[in-house]
Amino acid sequence: MTQPLDAFNYRDGVLHAGEVPVSEIADTVGTPTFVYSADAIRSSYRRIERAFSPLGAHLHYAVKASSNLHILRLLHEQGAGMDVVSGGELERAWLAGTPMQEIVFAGVGKTEAEQRAALDGRQSPLVDDAERLGGKNIEERGPVGLFNVESESELEVLARVAAELGVVARACLRVNPDVDARTHEYTTTGLEENKFGVAVARVPEIFGAFRDVSSIELVGLHVHIGSPVREIEPYQSAVRVLLQLIDTLEGAGHEVSVLDLGGGWPMSYVDGESPEIETFAETLIPLLKERTQNGLQIVLEPGRSILANSGVLLTRVQHVKKGRQKSFVICDAGMHTLIRPAFYQAFHFAWPAQVEASHVPPSAAEHIDLPDLQPCDVVGPICETGDFLARGRDLPPVKRGDLIAIFSAGAYGMSMSSNYNDHGRSAEVLVDGKRATVINERQKLASLLETEMAPRELGFKSVLSS
Ligand code: LLP
Repeated sequence: MTQPLDAFNYRDGVLHAGEVPVSEIADTVGTPTFVYSADAIRSSYRRIERAFSPLGAHLHYAVKASSNLHILRLLHEQGAGMDVVSGGELERAWLAGTPMQEIVFAGVGKTEAEQRAALDGRQSPLVDDAERLGGKNIEERGPVGLFNVESESELEVLARVAAELGVVARACLRVNPDVDARTHEYTTTGLEENKFGVAVARVPEIFGAFRDVSSIELVGLHVHIGSPVREIEPYQSAVRVLLQLIDTLEGAGHEVSVLDLGGGWPMSYVDGESPEIETFAETLIPLLKERTQNGLQIVLEPGRSILANSGVLLTRVQHVKKGRQKSFVICDAGMHTLIRPAFYQAFHFAWPAQVEASHVPPSAAEHIDLPDLQPCDVVGPICETGDFLARGRDLPPVKRGDLIAIFSAGAYGMSMSSNYNDHGRSAEVLVDGKRATVINERQKLASLLETEMAPRELGFKSVLSS
């Protein structure tokens, strides 16, 4: 798939996003700032769509990768449906213009309130604010197109809530295929020991139990084995398990019209790390083609493969501390801005945004072979040893005030960021050709303090007091 330096590249030693030098963005908006390329988002989306077009697959963008309203709008304009995993993401997807029928609502712990909002706009937490936020006729919006349900308990609650509201909830059952995606332990989801989905053996029983429940329409199966999945084989195994299960269900008289294969689709944090999306598609298409010709609808939920290499994080060097073996390049971004290195020991290519001609990186690789590089750790301001963005790297000489770009930060960067150590969340900028637009203002400290300004005593009466 796309490589880290595809959308953001050096011209005369100056890193550009589209036509815009990123240093101009940092000088104007400050740092840390996430910068996204609209072109890269569009072309990654189209590439996945094209690769799976022989199956007529429906793409639902996984909002959790990056949930900015303007990014959602951009993807909606490309024809994407949305895959959401919370009431908050659901409202964002709808506010961005996605019709409810094009929203898939997944997530292992949906609350009853979230289910209600997904079935009936009058139950939305935004019912009083929608108009002001740009959402029209919230009261009239219908149910989401699909629930991806993770347990029998969830189906029971959904059936009751839908019946109360007088609507039918269309649902896929998430299956745990017990397939190892061979990715990080924390993002492996398809093993029996993981909390996701229901075991294959239980699926026919659950379909049977809900066959005659009029407020639920179980239309198919969902699977998501992990993220990112760098090999094709685990997908093949999962698809085979699911197809066999579909045969079993159809043999028992159930109709299965949807197969949602989830996300986890490949992208590369270093050049050439994963096979291309086309290779994944070409391997899976023969397994599924005949089924789709007979009416099976394939759904995909890509997030990272669209966004990761469409964004960089810009951070300013605050101090350089020289040690005996290496220097610490201390930046204003850290684990509160991009938690992936700390949380998953993830690799993000990092490089100064302005360099001499001899220091333009030839590729995004773990080890760069150029003259006069210096060993360093790129770290943040947070009071934790795990607060690093890039460890054990060789970088061109950097000094206080320089700008560093952390690549492949478009997915699970801003969306996983926090206010730890009381830092406001970063600004976000979208570049489209020559135009750069602030799509999210830097969070002001005052907004962090607001919810603490009016303490309310709850006035509980202790049963023990006389
Ligand atoms: N569908 C489901 C049900 C998911 O759980 C996920 C990701 C996706 C789709 C999208 O997967 P993608 O296409 O983006 O790989 N925070 C981690 C990744 C966790 C992903 C969780 N689920 C990271 O930063 O690597």
